[in-house]
Amino acid sequence: MTDQLIALRTSLAEQLSALRGVAVEALPPALLDIAVRRVGQAYYVCPSSWEQLRHEEGGAGQPVPYWARPWPSGVGLAGALYDDPPAAGTTVLELGCGLALPSVMAARAGALVLATDGATDAVAFAAHVLALNEVVGEVAHVDWSTHGDALVARGPFDLVLAADVLYTKANADAARELFPRLVAPGGRLVIADPNRAGALHFLAEFEHETEPGPDVSIHTLRFDREVPGHT
Ligand SMILES: C[S@@+](CC[C@H](N)C(=O)[O-])C[C@H]1O[C@@H](n2cnc3c(N)ncnc32)[C@H](O)[C@@H]1O
Repeated sequence: MTDQLIALRTSLAEQLSALRGVAVEALPPALLDIAVRRVGQAYYVCPSSWEQLRHEEGGAGQPVPYWARPWPSGVGLAGALYDDPPAAGTTVLELGCGLALPSVMAARAGALVLATDGATDAVAFAAHVLALNEVVGEVAHVDWSTHGDALVARGPFDLVLAADVLYTKANADAARELFPRLVAPGGRLVIADPNRAGALHFLAEFEHETEPGPDVSIHTLRFDREVPGHT
């Protein structure tokens, strides 16, 4: 293991155990068996075997660690932001960020980024991914089912990003209620999605533009006026 990997592992172990409220020794071994990889213009650190982590988490009765690998939608949205970056100073919120590759691209452009996820492990990894790419951004643990109003109070944001988060009915319902309230008047909500039915149902309720793709489509919703319910 290189010195850099050892330092990353030590720092991750401290944060992961603090966020889970357990000793480092009680963390699943696959969570700390990490690798640094590159996709497109960004580096990321992640558990080296997603299948092994899923296996260990499943055995411990924990949810599937969907956050722990870069999904095509996150990679696609990061690429779109690389090609068409937000202006410096844009306030950006990423929802369900997982490894936060879109946040890396936005932060690199000088945007003020808050990367969030409902899984505390994801938040620790996202912080390290931002640091690995030498960009500045905040991270926060935000589960839409419990922290929605607190997040609205923290906003609104000029640009809200979400990659592959509409994969359950509960998520689509939460998104319908919460996501528009997070966008500043004149702002955008950009959703990258692997053409799931849930996303199409969600999108049917909002005016939007779509850049279709065979694997990932990118949908942009513009909010020209204040959204009712936003204080
Ligand atoms: C399929 S992964 C996508 C991760 C990343 N955006 C990407 O595209 O690589 C879905 C992400 O949404 C997060 N998520 C799911 N339900 C959530 C909720 N209720 N609140 C916040 N995040 C949630 C998961 O923890 C996970 O990181």
